[in-house]
Amino acid sequence: MSKITFSIIKADVGGYPGHSRVHDDLMDVAEKELADSDVLEDHYVTHCGDDLELLMTHREGEDSEKIHSLAWDTFQEATEKAKELGLYGAGQDILSDAFSGNIRGMGPGIAEMEFTARKAEPVVAFLMDKTEPGAFNYPIFKMFADPFNTAGLVIDPSLHIGFRFEIWDIKKDKKIMMETPEEIYDMLALLGAKGRFVIKKVYPKEESKLPADEPVAAVSTEKLYQVAGEYVGKDDPVAVVRSQSGLPALGEVLEPFAHPYLVSGWMRGSHNGPIMPVAEKDSQCTRFDGPPRVMALGTQLKDGGFDQPADLFDDPAFDTVREESANVADYMRRHGPFEPHRLPLEEMEYTTLPSVMDELEDRFEEVED
Ligand code: 13P
Ligand code: 13P
Ligand code: MG
Ligand code: MG
Repeated sequence: MSKITFSIIKADVGGYPGHSRVHDDLMDVAEKELADSDVLEDHYVTHCGDDLELLMTHREGEDSEKIHSLAWDTFQEATEKAKELGLYGAGQDILSDAFSGNIRGMGPGIAEMEFTARKAEPVVAFLMDKTEPGAFNYPIFKMFADPFNTAGLVIDPSLHIGFRFEIWDIKKDKKIMMETPEEIYDMLALLGAKGRFVIKKVYPKEESKLPADEPVAAVSTEKLYQVAGEYVGKDDPVAVVRSQSGLPALGEVLEPFAHPYLVSGWMRGSHNGPIMPVAEKDSQCTRFDGPPRVMALGTQLKDGGFDQPADLFDDPAFDTVREESANVADYMRRHGPFEPHRLPLEEMEYTTLPSVMDELEDRFEEVED
């Protein structure tokens, strides 16, 4: 049985209106491009807020030129449509004019993993808007390493041995492999600093029943402002997670989102706010361009294909979380321009704030002790 690759590639190529959501015509353009392609096993097009999301299965492996150029061409076509419709920020995340074999570093976000599909293979695609790649540190850690979240870590012998995490230092372009449960304290020292250290992938350990070299979770780690060298938008991240039979159960994969934890990236990419788990129909960012949203689309792979994804947060079981998130949003908003609602100065260096500081520079006088 050949391996399957699940790829999510996404970009903001124009919002309607403002940065709130994607126009239906852009999704139609993307649907047509992917439907016409013969390299895909299957696909699903959707949006999270103003991000156009391409979910694809194929046999081409990770970093495939064919798949990346298909996504690139799709975003180019959608950008043309966005310009035609006068959408906001048409082509926002498309940072380069020429495709050179791989879409990484060109603006779009990518989460992809190649693996041998099991007889029954549940996969969940998580899509976020108005936040950054480090927003996945908290939920992915909880799914695969926190026994208070994942009961299987305690009571299922096949999970009891723990997992292997690939963690990237996105400021220094370095990575480290760490294992749970042995190293969780050291790991959390890194992962709590979510603007710098991000989980890229999770793997089974050597002694696991699952192949140790095939990922069980993958997260997009592209930081747009580091790619572009200037502030251009907010690298809203995506992730793909496999579940059940030696991995966290579906409900253990969703459970971290029962807490509306704080993430960075709300309004102008410059504010902290609570994440809100929402149904596909509610994935629009309205309140102060937020609050940051997360969607969960679940599928079972079959011969490389998949059926209409299940909209997993479209569920009254998450109503109280949404209410709590809205309450936390109110609380945070009352801080206006004050930290910790607004991000600290170091993280605002790609906004217009430095020019305010430059203009005031000459008016600062020494203070006599
Ligand atoms: P599996 O071991 O088949 O994943 O079952 C665990 C489960 O889903 C219980 O909730
Ligand atoms: P996006 O990164 O989703 O385009 O949002 C930009 C922003 O900061 C809106 O307030
Ligand atoms: Mg936008
Ligand atoms: Mg966005």
